Amino acid sequence: MAFDVDMIKKVYAAMPARIEAARKKLGRPLTLSEKILFSHLHDDQPLENFERAKTYVNFAPDRVAMQDATAQMALLQFMQAGRPKVAVPSTVHCDHLIVAKTEAKQDLEKAVNESKEVYDFLASVSNKYGIGFWKPGAGIIHQVVLENYAFPGGMMIGTDSHTVNAGGLGMIAIGVGGADACDVMAGLPWELKWPKLIGIKLTGKLSGWTAPKDVILKVAGILTVKGGTGAIVEYFGEGATSMSCTGKGTICNMGAEIGATTSTFGYDDSMSRYLKSTGREEIASAADAVKEHLTADAEVYAYPEKYFDQLIEINLDELEPHLNGPFTPDLATPISKMKEVAAANGWPTKVEVGLIGSCTNSSYEDISRSVSLAKQVVAKGLKTKAEFTITPGSEQVRFTIERDGFLDTFNKIGAKVFANACGPCIGMWDRVGAEKAEKNTIVHSFNRNFAKRADGNPNTYAFVGSPELVTAIAIAGDLTFNPITDTLINEKGETVKLDEPTGDELPLRGFAVDDPGFQAPAADGSGVVVNVSPTSKRLQLLDPFAAWEGTDLKGLKLLIKAKGKCTTDHISMAGPWLKFRGHLDNISNNMLIGAVNFFNEKTDNIKNQLTGEYGPVPATQRDYKAHGIGSIVVGDENYGEGSSREHAAMEPRHLGVRAILVKSFARIHETNLKKQGMLGLTFANKEDYDKIQEDDTIDILGLTDFAPGKPLAVVLHHTDGTSDIISVNHTYNEQQIEWFKAGGALNIIRKNFAA
Ligand code: F3S
Repeated sequence: MAFDVDMIKKVYAAMPARIEAARKKLGRPLTLSEKILFSHLHDDQPLENFERAKTYVNFAPDRVAMQDATAQMALLQFMQAGRPKVAVPSTVHCDHLIVAKTEAKQDLEKAVNESKEVYDFLASVSNKYGIGFWKPGAGIIHQVVLENYAFPGGMMIGTDSHTVNAGGLGMIAIGVGGADACDVMAGLPWELKWPKLIGIKLTGKLSGWTAPKDVILKVAGILTVKGGTGAIVEYFGEGATSMSCTGKGTICNMGAEIGATTSTFGYDDSMSRYLKSTGREEIASAADAVKEHLTADAEVYAYPEKYFDQLIEINLDELEPHLNGPFTPDLATPISKMKEVAAANGWPTKVEVGLIGSCTNSSYEDISRSVSLAKQVVAKGLKTKAEFTITPGSEQVRFTIERDGFLDTFNKIGAKVFANACGPCIGMWDRVGAEKAEKNTIVHSFNRNFAKRADGNPNTYAFVGSPELVTAIAIAGDLTFNPITDTLINEKGETVKLDEPTGDELPLRGFAVDDPGFQAPAADGSGVVVNVSPTSKRLQLLDPFAAWEGTDLKGLKLLIKAKGKCTTDHISMAGPWLKFRGHLDNISNNMLIGAVNFFNEKTDNIKNQLTGEYGPVPATQRDYKAHGIGSIVVGDENYGEGSSREHAAMEPRHLGVRAILVKSFARIHETNLKKQGMLGLTFANKEDYDKIQEDDTIDILGLTDFAPGKPLAVVLHHTDGTSDIISVNHTYNEQQIEWFKAGGALNIIRKNFAA
């Protein structure tokens, strides 16, 4: 599996001089985030005092990770780049395509069978281009990365928004679209706007029922799903150092839910313990040798208000367990308040299913604390009222918890153990009865709870909590059960109380695994042939997108004015659509089918301006395309929040949408649009959203003078003969404008390589 010790030592060797140069340039102490960022400037990037949230900067990440659903498109693009081998260590992880239904073994066999074509494609591309391949069943990308590749002070990118999980091991790890991954694998610099910095000081210490998850649930409640946008969140304080490394991973993981670029923690003993326990003693001692560079300068944490753009303080001694939801991960309710809040909102309180695991919460510590509760079910004569499921994060964790008897304990309370994969977290859950769309409640320890996310049922109220709280609530079968104060009635009619959860941070006997599921690439992959059948329904080689025609865009039709939340799940749904992630034309049939049409409040039902009839979004857009007419999508705040999937940008591009005009964008999605040669625009005046009418024909003016910082004009031609001219902003820099003109960044890479 190659832990890249030499590469890591090289990073550490260069760090002191780079950090000292940056300290001198800025004339002040540095935060940890700044140290890692400055240590990873690309060689062609001059050192400057970069302006936060303004300056685009070129970086050289240490590695790339891709999960199977996004890797297909990333690698299809990489194949177009014309390179013989990846330029930085890269891995592919098969975790998103496995449907959770019966139990691990059967579900895995079925997936391997059904997705054979995709797995074979990913395995052969990996083999050819020098990419490590983690087979289906090996585990979930972020858990596998934490166990094998993450290292303090490193920088990585990954084609999944929860790549940020590796911040638990002190990395700057950032979720990106496949086109960004493609750039870095092709040896090009990776561009990011120099981030703002949010400091979170953790005082006190976690105890009792409170878990690391509650820290991020609390933070999400404070910052909301937009609050971290454009920022790195840096945690520090005694509460941070007293927490396990995997607990830190959970907190960083859900940083994606507040829109943060990433989150990180300074190197400490918990990270050293984790590295050693996962067989990386050499990395732990290399990190020890440079440890002053793997945390902020002392002055920063002594006077944090001077160095961070925003500072939040949380006292872990007072922190309560939380449940966040339903339908959004930032609606935070302390467990002691759930009775009144649920009653006030009419949330169904009978819990049907409790689900633990996922990349967010499947550490040995998480599972051992949950198991301490499961043991009490038997010992105290209780019966688990809700269904209960576990999705282990990796084969290493699964094998170890089986060895230590935890799976036996879960089996005794009737739990189902699903494959080491995303499963219900990504909507790959064949839940019996979900199609009836009944109102019901589930609790889980995952990270997202948007409508339909887990089981496709819009009436499933999903609440996010720590694995221990989810376990307790599943035992009680009641959303309002507060294990700190409430009692339960056991099978004999006696009143019993659950003891606080206890567990081990790391396995006392060490981790164990029989077959981790890793396949190393060929030393020389030049002879490996990658086959893609032209008749395949699941894979399709890409054709380059057309370059900009060189004129303003006129006569565009309004495709949809989306109302309210429009996440990447709304734009390109997951679940059953995951199987088409390698076939751009087929997956485009899900384009925006989850978005709510402002004019009739319906999903996937919009007016075709050519026929006057209402119909599905993809079919309407295909009709415009067939008539050679471009279109525009209008959206609300934080458009494209959620995952890193670039399909949400490529589908509109493929089907002929020319621009996305919104009140504000989520970062990854905005970059994805730019990479694919789309126009991503924002209203200069947000109230202008109200001026967009259903039958509008729209012009975008100013493109022949497209320049950084210069607004464009949009003309709305209404059917009553009147028109409005509005100003729209963009964040394109010189290079991104070139992407737009070329029809996409990849067209430029290919041209440069051929030259
Ligand atoms: Fe998979 Fe859910 Fe994590 S989809 S990568 S388990 S956030």
